[in-house]
Amino acid sequence: MKCVDDFRLRFGNREYVPIMIGGMGVDISTADLSLEAARLGGIGHISDAMLPTVSDRRYDTKYVRDKLKQYKYNVANADKSEVQFDLGLIAEATDTHVRRTMERKRGDGLIFINCMEKLTMNSPKETLRARLRAALDAGIDGITLAAGLHLGSFALIEDHPRFRDAKLGIIVSSLRALQLFLKKSSRTGRLPDFVVVEGPLAGGHLGFGMDWAEYDLATITAEIQAWLKAEQLDIPLIAAGGVFTGSDAVSFLENGAAAVQVATRFTVTQECGLPADVQQHYFAASEEEIEVNTISPTGYPMRMLKSSPAIGAGIRPNCEAYGYLLDSSGNCAYINAYNRELALHPDAKRLKVMDKTCLCTHMRNFDCWTCGHYTYRLKDTTRRNPDGSYQILSAEHVFHDYQFSKDNKVALPEEAAA
Ligand SMILES: Cc1cc2nc3c(=O)[nH]c(=O)nc-3n(C[C@H](O)[C@H](O)[C@H](O)COP(=O)(O)O)c2cc1C
Repeated sequence: MKCVDDFRLRFGNREYVPIMIGGMGVDISTADLSLEAARLGGIGHISDAMLPTVSDRRYDTKYVRDKLKQYKYNVANADKSEVQFDLGLIAEATDTHVRRTMERKRGDGLIFINCMEKLTMNSPKETLRARLRAALDAGIDGITLAAGLHLGSFALIEDHPRFRDAKLGIIVSSLRALQLFLKKSSRTGRLPDFVVVEGPLAGGHLGFGMDWAEYDLATITAEIQAWLKAEQLDIPLIAAGGVFTGSDAVSFLENGAAAVQVATRFTVTQECGLPADVQQHYFAASEEEIEVNTISPTGYPMRMLKSSPAIGAGIRPNCEAYGYLLDSSGNCAYINAYNRELALHPDAKRLKVMDKTCLCTHMRNFDCWTCGHYTYRLKDTTRRNPDGSYQILSAEHVFHDYQFSKDNKVALPEEAAA
C-alpha cells in the first residue's frame, strides 16, 4: 500500500510534499504553523482575516484601539456606514505579518496566505485590493482565494509585477463555481495555479447550503477533474475536507488529486493559534457535539462545537473596533439580529441572540470553535496525560503522520516524559 510520500505536488519544475495545511482564521493557522509546513517540504497558510487585530496581538501595534477611538461616537448607532478602514493601515498590517513570516521561512516548502473574500470590510473591492497587493509586495509565495469568491479578484492585481510569478489559487465547492471564476477571470489571461476542491466535511464556512450532507468530496472532485480534462485544462486539484488519515489522502492522490488540504488535525498542535484550553474541548468533543449552523453573518453555514461561547452571546456589535463583515452599505446580519432583540427586551441585563453571532469579536477571542466534521476523532490521535487531559501534538508529528502512515493507521505521539 502506498503512502502520501510516494506522491509529489508539482508547480512548474518544483516538487513539494503534497500536503497543504489550510488557512484558518483568525490566526488559528499561525505563522509558526505555516513555517512548519514549509520546513517539512509542504505548503502552509497564514490567514489574512482581521490582520490589524492579529498585528496588535503579535507585533504590539495599536490598530484596534486607534480605530475604536476614531469611531467611538458611532458605537450606539445602528448605521455603521461611516465606519471605514484606512486602506494604508490595512496594507501596513498585511505587510508586517507577511514579511515577518517570510523572513523566518526555512526549507523547501511554500507559504501562502488564505484570503477570506467574505471579509467585505465596508468597502469590498478596495479593501480586498489593498490586502492582496500588500501580501504580494511583502513576498508571499502564493494566495488562496477563499469564501465569498470575488469573481473579479485576479483583475484587482493583474497589473502587479508579481501577478504571474506568485502562485494563485481558489477554493471552490462545485464545478459551477469554478466555471464562473474561470469565465470571469479569462480576460486576465491567467489560469489559477491550483484549485482547492473543498467538500462538506471541512471546518470554517462551507460552500454549501444546509443540505451539505447530500454532497461528497470524491464525487465533486471527480466531476471537476473530468471537466478540466474535457477542456484540456491542466490545473492541479487539491482535495480538502475530511481527509483525516494518510490513507484518506492516498485515495485522493491515487484518483488524480495533486495534493490534499488538511486543517482539523492541526488544530490540536502546539503551533496552532487556539488556546490550550480550547484545544482540550476539540479533543474531548463527541460526534453529537459538532453542528453545522447558520449563525455566521456571512450567510454561509459554518461548522462548530455546540458548546462554542459565541452561540447565543448577545454582545453589542463591535464594528467600530472591528467591522470586518460590514457590507458595502455598512450592514451586517448580526447588527439587525442584535437590534431586534434589544427592541424586544429593552430592560434585559444580558441579551441572548440565537440566530446570528458577532463573528468578528468571537473569532478574535477564540470563542467560536469552528472545526471539521471529524473533530470527534482527534482523541484517537493522541495520548491522555495523567490528569486526564489530552497531550497536545507537534505539527511535525501530525505532518509526518499524514506523509508516512499506511493502512488507515494514525501514529500516536511519544509518551510525554513523567
Ligand atoms: C478551525 C478552522 C478554521 C478554518 N478557517 C478557514 C478560513 O479562515 N478560511 C478558509 O478558507 N478555510 C478555513 N477553514 C477550512 C480549512 O482551511 C480546510 O480547507 C478544511 O478544514 C480541511 O478539512 P479538514 O479540516 O477536515 O482537514 C478552517 C478550518 C478549521 C478547522
